[in-house]
Amino acid sequence: MSANLMATVVLFLLAMTTAIMVLVSGDDTSFVFNGFRSANLTMGGDASVNSNGLLQLTNETKMHVGHAFYPSPLVFTNTSSFSTTFVFAIRPFYPAVSGHGIAFVISPTKAFPGARPGQYIGLFNETTNGDPTNHVFAAEFDTMQTSEFGDIDNNHVGIDINGLNSTISAPASYCINGSHFQNLSLISGLPMQAWVDYDGGSKQINVTLAPINVKKPETPLLKLSLDLSHVLTYSSYVGFSSSAGSLLTSHYVLGWSFKLNGVAQNLDVSQLPKLPRIIGGTKQSVILSIGLSLLSHCLLFLVISSVFYYRYRKRKFSEVVEEWEQEYGPHRFKYKDLYIATKGFGEKELLGCGGFGKVYRGTMPGSKIEVAVKKVSNESRQGVREFVAEIVSIGRLRHRNLVPLLGYCRRRGELLLVYDYMPNGSLDKYIHNQPSVILNWAQRFKIIKGVALVLRYLHEECEKVVVHRDIKASNIMLDSELNGRLGDFGLARLYDHGSDPQATRVVGTFGYLAPEQARTGRARTRSDVYAFGAFLLEVACGRKPIERESEEERVILVDWVYGLWSKGEIIEAKDGNLGREYSAEEVELVLKLGLLCSSSEPLRRPSMRQVVLYLNWEVPLPDMSCFSLYSSRGLSFGSHGFCDSTACVPSYFDKSVSHCSVVESLLSGGR
Ligand SMILES: *[C@@H]1O[C@H](CO)[C@@H](O)[C@H](O)[C@H]1NC(C)=O
Ligand SMILES: *[C@@H]1O[C@H](CO)[C@@H](O)[C@H](O)[C@H]1NC(C)=O
Ligand SMILES: *[C@@H]1O[C@H](CO)[C@@H](O)[C@H](O)[C@H]1NC(C)=O
Ligand SMILES: *[C@@H]1O[C@H](CO)[C@@H](O)[C@H](O)[C@H]1NC(C)=O
Repeated sequence: MSANLMATVVLFLLAMTTAIMVLVSGDDTSFVFNGFRSANLTMGGDASVNSNGLLQLTNETKMHVGHAFYPSPLVFTNTSSFSTTFVFAIRPFYPAVSGHGIAFVISPTKAFPGARPGQYIGLFNETTNGDPTNHVFAAEFDTMQTSEFGDIDNNHVGIDINGLNSTISAPASYCINGSHFQNLSLISGLPMQAWVDYDGGSKQINVTLAPINVKKPETPLLKLSLDLSHVLTYSSYVGFSSSAGSLLTSHYVLGWSFKLNGVAQNLDVSQLPKLPRIIGGTKQSVILSIGLSLLSHCLLFLVISSVFYYRYRKRKFSEVVEEWEQEYGPHRFKYKDLYIATKGFGEKELLGCGGFGKVYRGTMPGSKIEVAVKKVSNESRQGVREFVAEIVSIGRLRHRNLVPLLGYCRRRGELLLVYDYMPNGSLDKYIHNQPSVILNWAQRFKIIKGVALVLRYLHEECEKVVVHRDIKASNIMLDSELNGRLGDFGLARLYDHGSDPQATRVVGTFGYLAPEQARTGRARTRSDVYAFGAFLLEVACGRKPIERESEEERVILVDWVYGLWSKGEIIEAKDGNLGREYSAEEVELVLKLGLLCSSSEPLRRPSMRQVVLYLNWEVPLPDMSCFSLYSSRGLSFGSHGFCDSTACVPSYFDKSVSHCSVVESLLSGGR
């Protein structure tokens, strides 16, 4: 009986033990969730599982909390051990500042009705925090330093019993080689793995942290000797709780493995759900991406605008340089320098508008030399080479009565000629239109002699014959000492000594244009003499070669002077502005020489060498008693049918034969 009883008791005990064993190690004592798609979690607050199986405890909603618990309670006995591991991520809305943390929780309930969000992470409130009747164990991953709980910093791991005043805590970090701990940022947004192990035998709690893909460190971050059997109730739930706090934060759990009385199975990292992509994912990443795209747009804009600016500057200062110009190197100016010198060819620097372009005053950067820059538009590329050759060779000419040509610059459709700046401007300003400053006779005579000298030099004394082609008062510049200086070689052409000048287009100014030049389009030294004659009369009489008295009547200066000379009153032709301070002999000489040079027959005009001799009184003027200004042929046209411009249109003579003959007759025919 006793044996039977004994057997029965043993059997009963055995059955009881088995029953207990079954309860203790019941169906749900071990689970692995590599993502929560198939998990039947009990969730509270804002917690949700998305279609990828990602558990999101908080969704950035201000001050909200989220809970997620394994649905069935587990049985914790005095000797129960447990082991759990999970992968989580904390993503703050604003980088580097975060709401509160996340905690692994073992609790007698899955719901916390009176609990508060924020620092209480949805588990406790002011009255319940720290209450031993809570029977709550938590491993917290706290991203805020709450002083009322004695938090060590805003990035720590702690073990909490019944309240949030951690029993033990340490800065979030992981052991890399047995003793050295590497800091981790909980709010980095990167997934990291945690292990919480409790040995019911040795009453030892270990909490370990590591970045994802790093093997569980051998040395745990936190080690606490504590008998949890006094804390946990027999039946408890396991899960997570977190609170976003006032600083919007998302808390994610990617995977979770748990085992009672054993070692939790490893998570399969490759199977874990992906976190939302930063770009286009959370609001934080929206801001980030907006910022990034703004930044990249700004960068792009900067790059593009600098490219455009560079191209604009390149274009703005672009020049045309060809190989043949190498030899003129020293005479070549940089457009940029000229641009700077003339203050961008500003209206303020405009000295005047000539027939061929505008002239600007400028100060060269660096050398501070004052220059006059003439912009000649030059649409056709033809003849540019010859033109440049000419101006450069003219630039090599040196005479005290020449305006020095310093060099040139070439751009598309534009030629820039750089001259010495003549402070007193051009002679015509001192003669015509009631000038404010009137030159006296001595000054005029000096200018006339100077111009005669430079023409003699150009015609006879330099290597090549230079025909200026456009001698007139407005092309005579006055330097600081009021010396006359011949300028504007824009129209000059060079000819070899003796060779027949090529007939090109007719250039020159009406009234100064020799009849044969108008007729043939060929300029020779003698046509320069003709123009010089007109210039002499212009300076002595203070009148233009052709003056319009009224709509009907025009005065041809040379005819008028000739008329006075015929009557023996040539001195009456002198400029009224001269006053009494003049040498009648010299005035008469200049007027007569003017007539002589204005002869319609080229061969009857003196050469410039002779002109200089006459002006210096070295040779007396030839007897002019039988002098006739014009050849006998031709009709008188009076002043009718005259070209109405003082500036001649080059093609005018080439194209229109009838006009040509009119002009020719007018200029060469007697009256
Ligand atoms: C966050 O969760 C709350 C409550 O579940 C919901 O009303 C809200 O729309 C969610 N917000 C986002 C951005 O998912
Ligand atoms: C999920 O758990 C609840 C109880 O917590 C239960 O009522 C429900 O049937 C379970 N669902 C599934 C699919 O297991
Ligand atoms: C704290 O929560 C408990 C229940 O969990 C509730 O009875 C109590 O009123 C709450 N206290 C406060 C201050 O909210
Ligand atoms: C790690 O973090 C702690 C606390 O924030 C700090 O005192 C320590 O200097 C950090 N160590 C390193 C190597 O950054």
